Amino acid sequence: MTHVVHELGIDVRPLSGYTGAEVHGVDLSRDLDDQTVAEIRSALLRWKVVFFRGQSIGHAEQIAFAAKFGELTAAHPYEDTPPDGFPQILPIDSRRYEAKFGTRKVTYDNGWHTDVTALVNPPAGSILRADIVPPYGGDTAWTNLVAAYEGLPAPLQSLADQLRARHSFGGNRRLFAADSDYARRVAAEPLVAIHPVVRVHPESGERALFVSPSFTAGENEIIGFSSRQSRRLLELFYEEVSRPEYTVRFRWQPGDVAFWDNRATAHLGPSDLGHLDFDRVLYRVTLVGDIPVGVDGKQSELITGQPFLAN
Ligand code: SIN
Repeated sequence: MTHVVHELGIDVRPLSGYTGAEVHGVDLSRDLDDQTVAEIRSALLRWKVVFFRGQSIGHAEQIAFAAKFGELTAAHPYEDTPPDGFPQILPIDSRRYEAKFGTRKVTYDNGWHTDVTALVNPPAGSILRADIVPPYGGDTAWTNLVAAYEGLPAPLQSLADQLRARHSFGGNRRLFAADSDYARRVAAEPLVAIHPVVRVHPESGERALFVSPSFTAGENEIIGFSSRQSRRLLELFYEEVSRPEYTVRFRWQPGDVAFWDNRATAHLGPSDLGHLDFDRVLYRVTLVGDIPVGVDGKQSELITGQPFLAN
């Protein structure tokens, strides 16, 4: 396998042509030095999601690792029962979903999405650690939104460059039962933001196709277009976003950690476990994000809710 070996022994092994690399030679339970942090950041910018296999860390070490890359948010805008003493940790826990969402699930959202883009400042990055995984199934996939943008023909790129779209939480009915407490909470505190359809990455300057079926899920999501036009255009973009060649699929083992750039990726939780009686438990933290900026230099617009700042 071709891979890049860095000076300090960090070993970055790409997993596909566009997206994802395993990083070996890093122990996340240790206090990482600046050089190692810089190398991980550069691998993340290049590969959009990086994976650390077989780590022995708990909530505190996961938070300490994340803090090397930015400030942490609270677990999630709608999470009210994070683990005791760890308000930053979002459990992705099949054992508690039925009570919480009124529906049995194994992940928060099994449609393509970028984390919490209904916020005016969606998280910059997310770090997910596997604790209990099924013996088979339960994989997560990521896609590279920069590759998706670059894969569009030039006239479509320039159309996309000019568009803005509404992102709202809960527009997609798959997430929770309509009569659950969770649904009532989302309705009482709605989150809606308007983002550029093409986001300019604040570190790399790359353009990313910043729409996803879970958040740009309503009727007139592309601003200034009819429902029908909006739906058709979004379908076209979603098709590009989910093209297999831009994706990587990750098979979890306990202790594995995934760290993704939420400004340049979307991901897909599993849908293949609903008929099986397996538990699946992972823990996620997110980094405070900036307000996206479009190709025209204009920022996203907050419609309802608050910016999601440091916990
Ligand atoms: C997430 O969407 O953050 C979780 C993905 C997963 O459960 O695989």
